Amino acid sequence: MSVSKDQPALTIPRLYFKLFFFSVLSALSVEVQAQPELDFYSGKALFEKNWIPAPASTTASDGLGPYYNARSCNQCHPDGGRGSKEQSLVVHSNDPVYGQQLQKFAIPGIPVEARVEFDADQEGGYQIIEMHYGDLENSVLSPRLAPSLHGLALLESIPESVITALADEEDSNADSISGRANLVADENGSFALGRFGWKAGQTSLVKQVARALSLDLGLGNPLQPSPYGDCTEAQSQCLATPDGNSAHHDDLEAGETVLSLLLSYISGLPEPSQENADHPTVRRGQKLFNQTGCADCHLPEIAFGGSVLQPYSDLLLHDMGPGLADELREGIAAGSEWRTPPLWGLGQQNGEYLHDGRADTLETAILWHDGEAAKAKRKYERLTEAQRSDVNTFLDSL
Ligand code: HEC
Ligand code: HEC
Repeated sequence: MSVSKDQPALTIPRLYFKLFFFSVLSALSVEVQAQPELDFYSGKALFEKNWIPAPASTTASDGLGPYYNARSCNQCHPDGGRGSKEQSLVVHSNDPVYGQQLQKFAIPGIPVEARVEFDADQEGGYQIIEMHYGDLENSVLSPRLAPSLHGLALLESIPESVITALADEEDSNADSISGRANLVADENGSFALGRFGWKAGQTSLVKQVARALSLDLGLGNPLQPSPYGDCTEAQSQCLATPDGNSAHHDDLEAGETVLSLLLSYISGLPEPSQENADHPTVRRGQKLFNQTGCADCHLPEIAFGGSVLQPYSDLLLHDMGPGLADELREGIAAGSEWRTPPLWGLGQQNGEYLHDGRADTLETAILWHDGEAAKAKRKYERLTEAQRSDVNTFLDSL
C-alpha cells in the first residue's frame, strides 16, 4: 500500500463511513448528511489547513494557540502517515506549570515554553532547551512521534471484549508475556478500554482528534471547549490572550463540523496492505517472526464478527523494561508499559522507529525490546545474519 495523496474516493470502503457515522453520532449528537466522498475531501482540506492566531480577519481559520506544536494536523501526520522526529515530536508531560505537553510554539506576546533541538550527538537525537518556566520538579517528559493514521477506523471497530480476551495479566500460560488492557477514566469517572496513542491512553478516535485540536493546535472544540488549550493556571499571560471563538464554529474555535469532517478523513484512510506476501524470503521471514515470539504481541491476525484484520498488534500494554520507560503514567499504564504498535504499514515508515523515533533501523528497534519482550529479543539475537535479514524483509513488506 502506498500512502497516496490522491486516494480515489471510490475505493474508500463503506465500512469506514458506517463506523464514522456511528462514532460521531454516538459521541456528539450531530446531524450529518450522508456525503462520504465529499466529507473525506472536506476533512482532508481541514487536516491540511494552516490555522492562524486570533483575532484575524478570517474568523473561520483563527484560534491557533496560545500554545501550539504545529499549524496543521498534516505537519505532523503528512498525508495521514507517520511524521519524522523533526516535524512531529510532541513532548508529553504531567507538569502543573507546563501542562500536559511542552509546546514548541506560542502566539506573539507570550513566551515559548521550550525548544527542542535536534542533534545527532544527543541521546535519542534531540535535547529540550530554553525551558521558560524553569526545570521540572517532580514531573516527567515523554517525547512521542506522530504515528500513521491509516486503518485506525478498523482498529476502532474491534469489539472491546475481543481485545480484553487477548490479555493475560497473570501470565497464566507462562510465556513471560502478560499483556494487559489499558483502562482510562472519563470525565464521569467510569473506565473504558484505551486503544489509541503509544500507551493506549485514548479510548476513541473522536476523543483523540479533540485532544489534538486542543493541545497540538490550541483549538477549542465540542469535546474540549476551552480556547486556551494547554495553558495552566501558572501561565497567566497565556490565559489573557484573545480567543478565536466565532459563530461560524458554534461559538468555539473549531466547531462540530470541523471535528466530524476530520474524523471522516481519518476514517477514510485505508489500512496498509502487505506487499509480496508470497515471496519466499518474506515467507521465511514471517516464519522466523512467529518462531521467535514476535507474533505473541504483534498478533498477525485479529478476527471478529466475520472480519479478519492484520494489524500485527494486540493493542495491549506490555512492560518493555527500563530502557524504553518514560515514567509517565497514562490510564493504568505504568512508565515502562507501551501498547504494541501495529506493524502494518511499517514498510512505508521513514526510518525512525519506536515511540520517540530513537531507532533508525528495524534491527535497532528490535534490540531496544526488553522486559516482557526480552525472550523474543534474545531469540532474534541468536538468529544468523541471513535469518535476521529475512525478518527485516518480512517487516518491510508490511
Ligand atoms: C505536533 C504534532 C501533531 C499534530 C499537529 C497532530 N498530531 Fe496527531 N499525534 C501526534 C502524536 C505525537 C501522537 C501520539 C500521541 C500519543 O502517544 O499519545 C498522535 C496521535 C494521533 C492519533 C492516534 C493515532 C494512533 O495510532 O493511536 C490520531 C487519530 C491523531 N493523532 C489525529 C490527529 C489530528 C486529526 C490532528 C489535527 C487536529 C493531529 N493529530 C495533529 C502528533 C500530532
Ligand atoms: C512483549 C511484547 C512484544 C514482543 C514479544 C515483541 N514486540 Fe515489538 N514492540 C512491542 C512494543 C510495546 C513496542 C513499542 C515500544 C516503544 O515504542 O517504546 C514494539 C515496537 C516494535 C517495532 C517498532 C515499531 C514502530 O512503529 O516504530 C518493531 C519493528 C518491532 N516491535 C518488531 C518486533 C519484532 C521483530 C519482534 C520479535 C523479535 C518483536 N517486536 C517482539 C511489543 C513487543
